Amino acid sequence: MKKDKLWLPVSVALYLALSATTAPAGEAMLMGDAAKGKTLHDAKCTACHDSSPYTRKNRRVNSVEGLIGQVNRCNHQLTANLNEDQIDDIVKYLNDTFYKF
Ligand code: HEC
Repeated sequence: MKKDKLWLPVSVALYLALSATTAPAGEAMLMGDAAKGKTLHDAKCTACHDSSPYTRKNRRVNSVEGLIGQVNRCNHQLTANLNEDQIDDIVKYLNDTFYKF
């Protein structure tokens, strides 16, 4: 009988422990490294625009998918093509710093 009474608090504690380790709802799960992304961004992406398009009121990007798409489109404008890992890092940096999807 003691065992039964213990089960509820144990499962509640387990649930809380597990949910505390997952990302808060609504926060996009991105694999990139934001610090690397910032360095890359500041070196490669500021030839045409600074960070103002990311913060303007009528910005065009309004989802993580849109952000990935736009970073890829801008990457194609660059002569030094960034690889997928570098794109991931920049997307992570832009999302953490500006978009927060
Ligand atoms: C060849 C020029 C050029 C380069 C280089 C460039 N961009 Fe862009 N970017 C643009 C233009 C043009 C726009 C659209 C601006 C507008 O709509 O007013 C834009 C818009 C964006 C937006 C969308 C802003 C919004 O409306 O939400 C993002 C994000 C972005 N660029 C990221 C990057 C990243 C990351 C890099 C480096 C990989 C980069 N850009 C390099 C020209 C460039």
